[in-house]
Amino acid sequence: MSRWMLASVFSLLAVAGAAAAPMSTARQEQLHNLLVQDCGSCHGLTMRGGLGPALLPERLHERPRAALIDTVMYGRPGTAMPPWNPMLSREEAAWMIDRLLEGINSP
Ligand code: HEC
Repeated sequence: MSRWMLASVFSLLAVAGAAAAPMSTARQEQLHNLLVQDCGSCHGLTMRGGLGPALLPERLHERPRAALIDTVMYGRPGTAMPPWNPMLSREEAAWMIDRLLEGINSP
């Protein structure tokens, strides 16, 4: 390996280390399935609502993103909305909220 290549590998590692570890495609697929199957079991497979309220972008954009992430992490005590923090990191909950804000069924 040339010195130039070594230098660029090390600088790439430094960049990756500085930012939050990128989420693997496999984990993104798991989270997507969790959204559709588990969240969807209450919020509707197309997020139009069921036992839980609709999670469509136009509704969610009215709320602060951090509050939505908190709802996913800690649930809503006294309602059917469970806390997901045993299964999800805050970054993962944020990733899921961002998918919902984009619209999970949009192409
Ligand atoms: C067992 C049913 C159930 C499951 C499973 C569930 N939720 Fe909920 N969720 C609810 C209910 C009920 C509410 C409304 C709570 C309230 O009245 O404040 C809610 C509220 C929310 C809200 C706040 C919506 C708003 O308008 O403020 C978000 C965001 C949310 N859920 C996301 C999720 C995500 C993401 C998942 C999957 C990781 C999930 N929920 C799984 C029942 C559920």
